[in-house]
Amino acid sequence: MTTRRKFLKGVGAGAGALLIPPTIAKAGRRGARMPGGGGGGGGGGGTTAPVFELPLNIPPELQPVSSSASHDLYVISQENAALEIIPGTTTDILGYQGMTPGPTLRVDANRRTIVRQVNNTSNTHTTTHLHGGHMDPHFDGHPIDLIAPGEFKNYDYSNKQVPATLWYHDHTMDLTGDQVYAGLAGFYLIEDDFERSLGLPNGEYEVPLVVQDRTFAADGSLIYSDNFQGMGDFGNTILVNGTPYPRFEVANRKYRFRILNGSNARFYNFTLSNGGRFIIIGTDGGLLDAPVAVNALNMAPAERYDVIIDFSNVPVGQSVTMNNTGGGGMGGGGGGGGNTFDIIRFDVAREEIDGSIVPQTLRPIERLNPADSVITRRWTFDRRGGRNTPWTINGRPYDPEFVAAMVKLGTTEIWDLVNMTGMFHPIHIHDIQFQILDINGRTPPPELSGWKDTFQLPPGGRVRVIGRYDDYVSDPNDVSTSYMMHCHILEHEDHAMMVNWMVVE
Ligand code: C2O
Ligand code: CU
Ligand code: CU
Repeated sequence: MTTRRKFLKGVGAGAGALLIPPTIAKAGRRGARMPGGGGGGGGGGGTTAPVFELPLNIPPELQPVSSSASHDLYVISQENAALEIIPGTTTDILGYQGMTPGPTLRVDANRRTIVRQVNNTSNTHTTTHLHGGHMDPHFDGHPIDLIAPGEFKNYDYSNKQVPATLWYHDHTMDLTGDQVYAGLAGFYLIEDDFERSLGLPNGEYEVPLVVQDRTFAADGSLIYSDNFQGMGDFGNTILVNGTPYPRFEVANRKYRFRILNGSNARFYNFTLSNGGRFIIIGTDGGLLDAPVAVNALNMAPAERYDVIIDFSNVPVGQSVTMNNTGGGGMGGGGGGGGNTFDIIRFDVAREEIDGSIVPQTLRPIERLNPADSVITRRWTFDRRGGRNTPWTINGRPYDPEFVAAMVKLGTTEIWDLVNMTGMFHPIHIHDIQFQILDINGRTPPPELSGWKDTFQLPPGGRVRVIGRYDDYVSDPNDVSTSYMMHCHILEHEDHAMMVNWMVVE
C-alpha cells in the first residue's frame, strides 16, 4: 500500500481499499528507485519481449448498438481480462471490452454519441474521460464521478468540435495511473466530410498507434511502480497498440499514422531509421493549417501527432524502424532499463499505386486574438512542501472540493502556466482546445501552433495559452461538474498535481 492513499478525499470512507485494481502487482515504494534527481521507477532489468516479430495489433472499430436520427449509442464493457502479451505468458489487464487498447470509436463531428460505460470489473471504481473532447462537464469523467462495479454511466458527447484524434481513458481519483497502466485507454477519432475530401491516406492506410511502456514480471504480470517523487512510472518494454515491439507490413506508399503517447510518464523522441521525415498534419486538437515536415517527433504523455510517413522510396523487401532517441523523462531523468529504443518496424512488403495526397493546405485555423482575452490567469506548478510531499498547483495539492477558477461562458482567456520545478510537466486542460501563444517567451514552432490540449511545460519555464470557453457550463453547486487541469504524468496527477475549475454563466 502506498502513502498516496492519504490524499484520497471525497470518494467515501473505505473506498480507497476497494479501488485498488486487483491485477497489478505493486513494486517499488514511492521514491525507492529514484536515482538522485528523479526518474527511475519501473522494474529495471531487461525485457523478454521479442523485437519486431509480432504483428501490429490494430484495435477493432466499435459499432453502435443502435442509431437514431439524434444519436448513436455505443456500449463499452470494462472488464478484467487475461491476455497473452509476451508470448508464452499471461497478463491480467483491465480493458475496455476486455482489450487494451480498447476498441476505437470513429465518429462524425456534430453527430451526437452516447457511450455507455459499464463497469464490469471485479472490484474497482472507474470514471471515463474523453481526452481532447469538448462536452458538457457532466460527462467529462470527473475523478469523483465514479461508476461502481455493476453500474454504468451514459456519457453524452455532442462531438461539436474540430475533428481530431482523441482518446478515452480512466480518470479515477488517485488511481488514474494504476488503471490506465492496467489497460483502460482507447482511441476516439472525430472526422468530417471536409477532412475526408482532402485525399489523405485512409482506410487500411490510416492507422492509430498508441505507444506505451510497461514492465512485465517473468510470469507476464504487469509491475507498476508508483514513483510519484520522480518522473513517474517507467516501463522497460514498449507496446504499440498493446503489441510489444511490433512489425507492420506496409505497401510502398504514404500512410497516415495517428500517434498517441499513451504512456504514464515517458517522453519520446521518435525518429525513422532511414532518415525519413514525419509530415505532421495534425496535433492534439485537429489538423494544422499546413503540413510541417520534421526529423523527430518529441512527444510527452497524452500528446498526439497525426503524421504522414511516405514509404515510396523504400524498396520492397526493406524495412524502416521507428526508434526512440529520447531520454525518457525529458529534463528529469529517464529510467526503467530494458529496451525503450526500438518501437515498431515497418516492413515494405509490396508495391501499390498511391492515390492519396498531402494537400499543401489542410484545415484553416481560426487564430485567437490575445486582445480578446478578458483575464490572464497565472497557474504555478510546484511541490511546495519539498521532498515527500504531493505536487501542487498554485500551492495546493488537489482537493476535489475546491474550485480554483470560475470562467465566464463565451469569454476568451489567457492561461499563464509557470513551472517552478526542475522537470518537465505535460500540462493538460480539459473542455476546449487552446493555441500556444509562447513558450519561454518565444513563438512556438509551426507544429505547436495548431490546436492543443497538452503542453510541455519546461523546467523553470513558462507557457502561455489562449482559449475560448464556449458552449458548456458547470453546475456551481456540484464540484463533480468541474473541468480539470492536471499534469499528465499520471503519477503526478494521482499525487495531486490537479485542480478543478468551472465555466459559469
Ligand atoms: Cu487525459 Cu484529464 O486527462
Ligand atoms: Cu482531457
Ligand atoms: Cu508532472
